[in-house]
Amino acid sequence: MAETIRPHGGTLINRVAVGAEREGLLELAKNLYPIQINAWTISDLNLIGIGAFSPLTGFLGKEDYDSVVENMRLADGTVWSIPITLSLEDYVADEIKVGEQVALVGEQDGVIYGILDVQSIYEVDQKNEAVKVFKTDDEAHPGVQKLLSRPSIYAGGPIRVLNRPEPGQFAEFYFDPAETRRIFSEKGWKTVVGFQTRNPVHRAHEYIQKSAMEIVDALFLNPLVGETKSDDISADVRMRSYLALLENYYPKDRVFLGVFPAAMRYAGPREAIFHAMVRKNYGCTHFIVGRDHAGVGDYYGTYEAQEIFSNFTSEELGITPLFFEHSFFCTKCGNMASSKTCPHDKSEHLHLSGTKVRALLRSGQCPPPQFTRPEVAEILIEGMKEQFEPTN
Ligand code: ADX
Repeated sequence: MAETIRPHGGTLINRVAVGAEREGLLELAKNLYPIQINAWTISDLNLIGIGAFSPLTGFLGKEDYDSVVENMRLADGTVWSIPITLSLEDYVADEIKVGEQVALVGEQDGVIYGILDVQSIYEVDQKNEAVKVFKTDDEAHPGVQKLLSRPSIYAGGPIRVLNRPEPGQFAEFYFDPAETRRIFSEKGWKTVVGFQTRNPVHRAHEYIQKSAMEIVDALFLNPLVGETKSDDISADVRMRSYLALLENYYPKDRVFLGVFPAAMRYAGPREAIFHAMVRKNYGCTHFIVGRDHAGVGDYYGTYEAQEIFSNFTSEELGITPLFFEHSFFCTKCGNMASSKTCPHDKSEHLHLSGTKVRALLRSGQCPPPQFTRPEVAEILIEGMKEQFEPTN
């Protein structure tokens, strides 16, 4: 069995209670003050519990929060770029105290998902958080909008997970970091490149994945399937498209598909660091960062999500980022290419904006095969009908 990469911070965190201990904690939780949590927070809680967010053992307390927002590090200096926080309605903040335990209860289903040991309650300046994390406080930015819609008093402290959120339609593609680490090791893969995506895999994505696959043992295709903005293609449709693509164009013994059940922040550069650290926890040794990774609109420069890595040493990061230029199909080359490999004029390059591609798909037309594999396009056309034109 191949050895796996060290988790971020050195230890793979496991805060999921099982068996008799879980039963006991559930009994205890029934008598604790209940804090209602939404799907986003349930997803963060679960990811902390299973160690995807190692070394976090809970929601950030004040000291870690300030340090992450200002310096992209936890208070002990460990690299961490996105604040993972629990916000409290004002009346709740008045009713709970530091030193107490509270139950974390799903606002939709009443399920007790976990327990929090409240170690810190603090008010934050969300505008400052927005400017530092998203580089803007423009409310048109979907991540900023989300942040500013939450109350500004946060509670921090270690958690235990007592119930896991139900996986969706593609339950067989949910793996915890401990499982992916074991699987990669059993397969004998010494080097695995992680690929984050919130989109269908188009030819440019395929090109950078396969370029990376030339130098590592395997690809971990790890699509984000948590909350995304409403005009992104739904996770279920994307999953169908990934399966069709892998079936037809990828070697089965060198690719592993598993989902990343996290919410999308659209924080561009800072989210690229976060995505890389999390993929290290899943057992990846390398991580792909292409053009405008995790970006939205024009908030970030094309390669800012690559440049941010230079703030940290390779020892601090632990995982090796693989940077890719903007890639496209060049009609003269007759190939996928980038400015690093193609000498031809821009007019030879096939460029389709996301808006244009969505318009084509909605009208039932396949984008050119140089842009999207036909097997993928067909699924997307069907999926767009279901997602955006419900029949009832
Ligand atoms: S993201 O928000 O998850 O980053 P997307 O799914 O489009 O969006 O991108 C997945 C990865 O592919 C990111 O690393 C992104 O930078 C990269 N990428 C997307 N399109 C291109 C392209 N045309 N050329 C190079 N890299 C790309």
